[in-house]
Amino acid sequence: MGKFPVPVGPMKPKIFVTRQIPKPAMDLLFLHFDVEFNKEDRVLTKKEIVKGVKGKDALLCLLTDSIDAEVLDAEPNLKMVSNYAVGFNNVDVKAATHHGILVTNTPGVLTDATADFAFTLLLAAARRVGEAERFVRKGKFKGWGPLHFLGQSTEDATLGIFGLGRIGREVARRAAQGFEMKILYHDVQRVPDFEKEFGAKFVDKETLLRESDFVSLHVPLNPNTHHLIGEKEFKLMKPTAVLVNTSRGPVVDEKALAQALQEKRIFAAGLDVYEREPVIEKALLKLENVVLAPHIASATVKSRTDMGLLAVNNLVSAFNGIAPDCLVNRKVLAKSRMKVT
Ligand code: DGY
Repeated sequence: MGKFPVPVGPMKPKIFVTRQIPKPAMDLLFLHFDVEFNKEDRVLTKKEIVKGVKGKDALLCLLTDSIDAEVLDAEPNLKMVSNYAVGFNNVDVKAATHHGILVTNTPGVLTDATADFAFTLLLAAARRVGEAERFVRKGKFKGWGPLHFLGQSTEDATLGIFGLGRIGREVARRAAQGFEMKILYHDVQRVPDFEKEFGAKFVDKETLLRESDFVSLHVPLNPNTHHLIGEKEFKLMKPTAVLVNTSRGPVVDEKALAQALQEKRIFAAGLDVYEREPVIEKALLKLENVVLAPHIASATVKSRTDMGLLAVNNLVSAFNGIAPDCLVNRKVLAKSRMKVT
């Protein structure tokens, strides 16, 4: 930072923060703003968020906060919502734009961490790491066995990627360059430079599901991607296939997934996100062939700190009259509650 002057005293814009983020970001926030924040390490209720935004100029919130019309209506001077996440399906962007409220996210800084974690889940599910670890902890390991815990190999394997944004591409890079996998992808549009770089092939959804040994999801959650993978899709997948989801839970029909895993219609799954997070489909909890992580794909010290610094920098830019690079609702600029260009 250092690009913008630090405001003094009562001139500082007022910000409400729904939960503490890493210290360097909190420090930067305190430098530039008059901050009120949730001092407990828990998700606030809607009522508490509504109360919190009253009298504030901006809100710094998390993917676990539902920022809907009720919150956006609560303060007529609310000018900006800075979401501490790359995904912003938790914010009613349409309502925010209608009210002239800027919405920003935190892309880029969690790409590597998330791609690494997608691969962690891919390998853990393919090689049955969760199941094997539980076996050891229960004292069942009595020695090496030639038929113990046989999993799926990455050798000569095909990875199918849904959603070729920053994270999807980094997963493809790891698969192609590190594991020499063949890459298939499906998205709303083709990406010729990606096809050239990784020898990747654009295919329709059905072909991707039929031909992939590993399927990794990297689409944003919206009405078009809700239940992108459900019963019909599991029927197309190989019985040896592994599904990885680090995007958003509702992209997968969790009940259908549990059934496909139970009936061994696919080999395994690795999940970081859930349909009704933090509630997890009961049937999944009983299954051995699914690796369950608590939404931690971006959870490295570096990523979470950089996400915080970016979320604060988005606020600092906007309150200095400059449209943040991470603005997700550019249309708002024509009628925003604060002057930004
Ligand atoms: C995001 O930023 O959208 C991620 O889900 C956080 O881990």
